[in-house]
Amino acid sequence: MDFNFTEEQLMIKQTAKEFAESEIAPTAVERDISAEFPHEIVKKLGELGFLGMMVPPEWGGAGMDTISYVLAMEEISKADASVGVIMSVNNSLVCFGLNEYGTNEQKEKYLKPLAQGELLGAFCLSEPEAGSDATNQHTIAERDSDGWVLNGTKNWITNGINADIYLVIAQTNRELAHKGISTFIVEKGTDGFEHGKKEDKLGIRSSDTCSLSFTNCKVPKENLLWEEGKGFNFAMNTLNGGRIGIAAQALGIAQASLEAAVKYSKERKAFGKPIANLQAIQFKIADMATKVDAARLLTLNSAALKDQNKNYIQAAAMAKLFASKAAMECADEAIQIHGGYGYVREYLVERYLRDAKITEIYEGTSEIQRIIIARTLLQ
Ligand code: CAA
Repeated sequence: MDFNFTEEQLMIKQTAKEFAESEIAPTAVERDISAEFPHEIVKKLGELGFLGMMVPPEWGGAGMDTISYVLAMEEISKADASVGVIMSVNNSLVCFGLNEYGTNEQKEKYLKPLAQGELLGAFCLSEPEAGSDATNQHTIAERDSDGWVLNGTKNWITNGINADIYLVIAQTNRELAHKGISTFIVEKGTDGFEHGKKEDKLGIRSSDTCSLSFTNCKVPKENLLWEEGKGFNFAMNTLNGGRIGIAAQALGIAQASLEAAVKYSKERKAFGKPIANLQAIQFKIADMATKVDAARLLTLNSAALKDQNKNYIQAAAMAKLFASKAAMECADEAIQIHGGYGYVREYLVERYLRDAKITEIYEGTSEIQRIIIARTLLQ
């Protein structure tokens, strides 16, 4: 498939690559160990226009297409998948949601600074008992005289500690099941809204993930996003695009694993010659390269469909399903090729495996992606 990238798309890829290599990669190992949030890098991503890539310029964004977003996400995630997810959530889940469904007032107040990188956003759907079964919302929002009052708990929220603006999905009418769910824009610092401690994660360790609690948290009526009862549709529509971002993140990890394996196999000698001369290694590298290419094609295909305003639900689910598996398998093989060296931090590939795992879980597990793909085929 020839995507005939435009000059602008290639320039964005190059800018992302240079930024990732010079400013993200050198400190990625340190951050993986310390689990420190990359504040300075996120600030610079904002300055580069990478936090609101697909938002129109009139709302503070870069006005780019989804293909450009995928190209940039791959490069950033190749250097550090933690930075990749911070960027992906702000772009695909928060800015997309506000741009599609926000009022002009909401766009002016929230989307503009989010797209310009002045504020950071979080998307709050998951709960202790609502992961894959996302309709099972226990967070409730009840009307009061001048707005809404939120009570409940959210779990596994990316950017949960460092975000300024939270899109919170909550039940507004339990009797109506998923049609009784709505979305609210909640500002950090609102009374009754607190975040939990940073989760100590297997991978993507410098991105922050935490729970959130809402106790009689008052939200003004103008902070209802879209319409009452549209919260589940909002979440589903938004996650479709989010899955393209996570597929691109997984692709970055898979590509990094492949490059590390190729480099090491040419350097490492065994039985008197570089291990790259051995067919056992060549076959692994050939399989890795094939998976990386297939993941890239599926991811770009879903992005292209989105840019052409075509239905991309199934394509995005396929891209995420395949790219996340490719990331796991490529990272695993990269460790195998490195042998004992692959099992220690110095050679990066063990981090790739730890970082890859989450791409099979968040924004819909691989099992959920299969449900979405099968439903589209069987309906
Ligand atoms: N796109 C658009 N709409 C969709 C949709 C999709 N992919 N899937 C379902 N819907 C719509 C349906 O059309 C229906 O809408 P209407 O009532 O208007 O017709 C409505 O949603 C309900 O559909 P279902 O009856 O099919 O719902 P369900 O209860 O069977 O659930 C599901 C469907 C696919 C399993 C869904 O619950 C799901 O996607 N679950 C996974 C949730 C998820 O991805 N969570 C990730 C958490 S967020 C995260 O990880 C962010 C982060 O911080 C990184």
